[in-house]
Amino acid sequence: MVIQKPKSAILLVGGLGTRLHPLTLQTPKPMLSVAGIPFTEHQIVKARAAGIKEIVLATSYLAEVFEPYFGNGERFGIEISYAVEESALGTGGAIANAAALLQSDGPVVIFNGDVLSSHDLHAQMELHASQNADVTLHLTTVPDARAYGVVEMDDVRILTFNEKMENPPTNIINAGCYIFNREVIAAIPPGRVVSVERETFPELIASHANLLGYVDSSYWLDIGTPAALLQANRDLISAVAYSDAFSHLMEGSEFTRVGSALIAHDAQIDPSAIIRAGSLISRGVKVHSGVVIDGSVIGESAQIGEGARLKESFVAAGTKIPNGFIAESEFFGFSD
Ligand code: GDD
Ligand code: MG
Repeated sequence: MVIQKPKSAILLVGGLGTRLHPLTLQTPKPMLSVAGIPFTEHQIVKARAAGIKEIVLATSYLAEVFEPYFGNGERFGIEISYAVEESALGTGGAIANAAALLQSDGPVVIFNGDVLSSHDLHAQMELHASQNADVTLHLTTVPDARAYGVVEMDDVRILTFNEKMENPPTNIINAGCYIFNREVIAAIPPGRVVSVERETFPELIASHANLLGYVDSSYWLDIGTPAALLQANRDLISAVAYSDAFSHLMEGSEFTRVGSALIAHDAQIDPSAIIRAGSLISRGVKVHSGVVIDGSVIGESAQIGEGARLKESFVAAGTKIPNGFIAESEFFGFSD
């Protein structure tokens, strides 16, 4: 049997990122910087490492922000194109719309655009091919499954799929990375809102399609809330989580890891300032004397005044924090 490995991928990056307001008022969630790199870049580099040659970004909200950064993908060694939904089509509608731009045949890897994952994509592809699956979902386990798509399964087959339910029957969840056969994508009704989680998966199960689960419990995080975004930052910087894109960044000379904080080389930091674990200090930032920054993200060229203390907070590029200011879990300078 010839095993057809996916060469194409679709990245779902059109959501509103509502839970991340005000960070996502001007920047779509997947373009937010995580450990010094737009989140989408972590995923694109992971896809390329798994042998993906072309990727379509399925965009809607703030679609215009992606292309100036990623271009045609040459810089990332992968072909990138953009499918723009005039109004959001839902995850299924987005997949159908984006698939029209793919050039190669064969199964397609679909990524939710907000998941930091160290799962073994090769192993997922092999399971899909060897079991002749229609769709293979990456699954993981979480303590509380209520905020996710939850499944029941036998050895490898998914028996039920329920999106966000009050009393989940298991703690095995949809981790947001799928392999879809082309026939399944072709059957998604075109031109209307479709949710793969609420419509496509339950229908495939009802029609006894071969819907498989690849369970992999390595590092996994949905970055959809401010707390999760800070955690992703912290975990990447302290090497609890791994990303090829972040390793490449560390090979360059722009940033240094100081303890478990990441600091741009050209940032000016007064020697009396304390930068604690999980903090990201971007290019051109000025940190004055007596400042304490703890698990916070400071955007490019921001200035932090004398004696200010920031904990688990976000400061937008170019913002000035006054002397002596004290804040915890706050956002500064993200206007609408
Ligand atoms: N292009 C496009 N169009 N993308 C969309 C749309 C749309 O209409 N709606 C959502 N997306 C993208 C989002 O940008 C995100 O990357 C991804 O689809 C998932 O949407 P979220 O809004 O983040 O969903 P969620 O986190 O509540 O739930 C999803 O992810 C969980 C794992 O993190 C579901 O897939 C769950 O089943 C899953 O457990
Ligand atoms: Mg999400």
